[in-house]
Amino acid sequence: MTVSVVQAENLARYYKVRGGLLTAPRTLKALDGASFTVEAGQTLAVVGESGCGKSTLARLITMIEPPTSGSLRITGTDIIGAGKSQLQQLRSTVQIVFQDPYGSLNPRQQVGSILEEPLQINTDLSASERRDKALSMLQRVGLRAEYYGRYPHMFSGGQRQRIAIARALMLQPKVVVADEPVSALDVSIQAQILNLMMDLQDEFNLAYLFISHGLSVVEHIADEVMVMYLGRTVEQGLSEVIFSRPVHPYTQALLASTPFVDPARRAKRVVLSGEIPSPLDPPSGCTFHGRCAHAQKLCQQQVPESRLFDGRQVACHFAEASAVVHRAAC
Ligand SMILES: Nc1ncnc2c1ncn2[C@@H]1O[C@H](COP(=O)(O)OP(=O)(O)O)[C@@H](O)[C@H]1O
Ligand SMILES: [Mg+2]
Repeated sequence: MTVSVVQAENLARYYKVRGGLLTAPRTLKALDGASFTVEAGQTLAVVGESGCGKSTLARLITMIEPPTSGSLRITGTDIIGAGKSQLQQLRSTVQIVFQDPYGSLNPRQQVGSILEEPLQINTDLSASERRDKALSMLQRVGLRAEYYGRYPHMFSGGQRQRIAIARALMLQPKVVVADEPVSALDVSIQAQILNLMMDLQDEFNLAYLFISHGLSVVEHIADEVMVMYLGRTVEQGLSEVIFSRPVHPYTQALLASTPFVDPARRAKRVVLSGEIPSPLDPPSGCTFHGRCAHAQKLCQQQVPESRLFDGRQVACHFAEASAVVHRAAC
């Protein structure tokens, strides 16, 4: 039996948030029960508007923060109950690439030293071995060996993101969590970085958790897609299923706001009205009901359970109706 590289079950992270002096602390459910697996060589895309809990999930998977509840296995090992040295080893198995390539690289450190740092901390390699590895990784991500002694400010945003990716790969991780890795880049540069990530995935058999606020970026890289809204998964399934037959009204709206070239897809416009509610005071029932064209009384009263419908998991009371209306509109 093959072991999934990442196995998350009902992962949740709550924060206690203080209001004023006289108000009791309240609970903010940043992530409220995510379940998924990611296999070697596969990409799970996590998609949703700002504030839906994507970066919180990234911090759990990279073990920067522990979950409030739920279980997380990395290469088969349960992180809850793992000893200190085991956790340290698991942490080098999972690496992260952040959105902002400016903020995530130390401006006073040369590229070579940025790449060698993880090796210096985690391995017994000699200085010359570390240098060789850094130089070969630089080239692997499409940068010249001469850049070894340069500082981050001497590079463009795309080049910096290449450096951040190279750094993430220095310890031969099995999982890379990419938290909106191309959101800060020009559209013309985005495709180059995505292609590089896909090449590296093939070469090293990497599992990706690819986080994005929009769907367009993930269409080519994702094997599976998980759509989140206010800390909860609303729809989850194979990429081709989600892109060709989205069922949850929120997924449909996200897809409709995605600039596709294909005119057949443009016809599916559903406008996402209203603001995202405060996660500190989420609506009752289905938290999307206030913005949903299909919402009925039941949606205000009862939280929809995630269920299997037409080949994907969806958490919507009226998935059947939503699917029919959407098909008719296309
Ligand atoms: N350390 C924290 N303390 C309190 N609230 C937090 C903390 N981190 C995140 N949140 C809240 O959790 C929610 C999800 O945040 P985040 O995971 O950053 O979303 P995303 O990355 O999708 O934009 C937001 O409402 C955010 O304000
Ligand atoms: Mg985020």
